[in-house]
Amino acid sequence: MSIAPEHKPVSIIETSNLCHCFSDGTKSLSDISLTFNTGEFTVIAGANGSGKTTLLRHFNGLLFPESGTVSVSGKSVKKDPMAARKQVGMVFQDAESQIVGDTVYDDVAFGPENLRLQRAQIDRRVSQALSDVNLTGFEERCPHHLSGGEKRRLAIAGVLAMTPRVLLMDEPFSNLDYPSTCTVLSQVVKLHEEGHTIIITTHDLEKVIAHAQRLVVMEKGCVVRDGLPEEVIVGIEQFGIRPPCSVQLGKGIQPWVN
Ligand SMILES: Nc1ncnc2c1ncn2[C@@H]1O[C@H](COP(=O)(O)OP(=O)(O)O)[C@@H](O)[C@H]1O
Ligand SMILES: [Mg+2]
Repeated sequence: MSIAPEHKPVSIIETSNLCHCFSDGTKSLSDISLTFNTGEFTVIAGANGSGKTTLLRHFNGLLFPESGTVSVSGKSVKKDPMAARKQVGMVFQDAESQIVGDTVYDDVAFGPENLRLQRAQIDRRVSQALSDVNLTGFEERCPHHLSGGEKRRLAIAGVLAMTPRVLLMDEPFSNLDYPSTCTVLSQVVKLHEEGHTIIITTHDLEKVIAHAQRLVVMEKGCVVRDGLPEEVIVGIEQFGIRPPCSVQLGKGIQPWVN
């Protein structure tokens, strides 16, 4: 069946034969060709050291390919990393490392202030971003004194204040307890429903896979599987990834949050 033109997928991030090697000679990515469409919710899974973080860092110009290309909205990230960063925001695995302000307000305002926006516009962006992650009322708190889950939500707010179209989240549930995981996950699902393109890395599929539309599996710097989660998950143990308990129990993929 032909797809009506308005429903055709529109790509936003494309990599073509991407290879990367760190300065110490570690070969981290080999020949990666992937396309991510706008509005897609993708999980990139892989064992530790498989190259997930290194790949994400190429999407907003924190790293550049040794060979091959990465583009955002058709523009080379290497040629114009600032243009890529305006569209692609990244939440780092270590939320603490992303804290830049003495108060929650200052922390979220940091990005928009660097864009030299007017004060009223900065205020609007900060209050919208804090409301998106349920941190309204936390403006005067010290970021370092927040709980693990609150710090993660603050990091997401800091990225949202830059109004990116794509949200990259590197292991967003690491070190979070069950209630914090549910809160962060619900907010990620809501951001996806509101139209954001979401790309999440994880070595643990349990929490997030039911909400994703696509599962990419990495092993030793290569993409070894790419497709619908319910299909890709079959036999995923061979890549060092634990399948969700519900799958092991024969119940299929079950959501963590509604
Ligand atoms: N700064 C670095 N210098 C050298 N090698 C690195 C660096 N960062 C990561 N690596 C190596 O690159 C490979 C991929 O790492 P990474 O992208 O962090 O994997 P993952 O996020 O899947 O755990 C690993 O072999 C890792 O040891
Ligand atoms: Mg990593």
